[in-house]
Amino acid sequence: MNILFFGTKSYDREFFQKLIGSGAYHDLEITFIEPNLTPETARLAEGFEAVCAFVNMDLCEKTIRTLQKCGVKLILMRCAGFNNVDLETAKACGITVMRVPGYSPEAVAEHAMALVLTADRHMHKAYIKCRENNFNLAGLMGVNLYGKTAGIIGTGKIGAAMARICHGFGMRVIGYDVYPNKSLDFVEYVDFEHLLSESDLISLHCPLTEENYHLINKDTIQKMKDGVILVNTSRGALIKTEDLIQGIRDGKFFAVGLDVYEEETGTVYEDMSDRILEHSTMARLLSFPNVMVTSHQGFFTQEALQAISLTTMDNALAFVEGRKNGNEL
Ligand code: NAI
Repeated sequence: MNILFFGTKSYDREFFQKLIGSGAYHDLEITFIEPNLTPETARLAEGFEAVCAFVNMDLCEKTIRTLQKCGVKLILMRCAGFNNVDLETAKACGITVMRVPGYSPEAVAEHAMALVLTADRHMHKAYIKCRENNFNLAGLMGVNLYGKTAGIIGTGKIGAAMARICHGFGMRVIGYDVYPNKSLDFVEYVDFEHLLSESDLISLHCPLTEENYHLINKDTIQKMKDGVILVNTSRGALIKTEDLIQGIRDGKFFAVGLDVYEEETGTVYEDMSDRILEHSTMARLLSFPNVMVTSHQGFFTQEALQAISLTTMDNALAFVEGRKNGNEL
């Protein structure tokens, strides 16, 4: 099977190329290209049986219909989330969509905690100050996490890993999930309202769905404790950014850490350092001293990339062999 690999970065090439050479996958042929998969670039898949795409690409109805015309039978998502894929259209077009669930929950959870600690203890500012010979501590005071309450929204694979990290910090951990995770015996499950009002740290780990779009908005922010720390490593649209910005202005948050944000599609993973920022919401978020933004990099560890490449290739192989392996959507 020949696979067209959209949006290739050097690290994708590095990890996938290691596998292509190995025996088990000799029937799979990969062509790497740089453009992302969008309605405009989908026609590049002419003659390919499969395409491989990522979280930052646009797999809307138009893209998928074009892929179908090109002869594509399989979409391999090299990520866990799939809210950017029109699954109904894929089904109607007879295209199988597969993903990589749970490749390294710890990678994302550890990044969530890195955001908490950076924003809480002002690491981003301390680093620059010390480099400039400024050893003054003004503006760097943080708050202890020990003894505080961590509220985890969505206690699946990543949420559970984050819950364990918070527990290790000596925090009381409360959780909200539509399906509570029975293996987390140290987590107290509460309803959403209680989680909002009792947490000193709120970390979002549920997938983005139609029901929870803008879960964090003016009303829910109002119900949070003053001085709360909010972290989102899940999906940008879980938070209504305009309301978050107002909340930050009102002094509601001690710190905010965002690995994902509403406007990221089309800009994330691109180097735009020589361009003027198009979006004013991002410019405003970056202007706050207690906000830490990273570029959807929670997944970005060696272990996670190894697991992503291995499972993606296994998915392709399962499809070729007509086997169901549970990673079909
Ligand atoms: P998972 O499927 O193991 O867990 C998700 C949990 O959320 C489940 O327990 C589910 O019952 C719960 N849930 C669903 N809707 C909910 C709601 N409205 N309120 C509360 N809980 C709800 O998924 P996993 O692997 O833990 O991933 C979670 C999310 O993390 C993904 O959907 C993706 O958006 C994001 N992610 C981010 C990455 C990054 O690089 N920043 C990398 C990988 C995933």
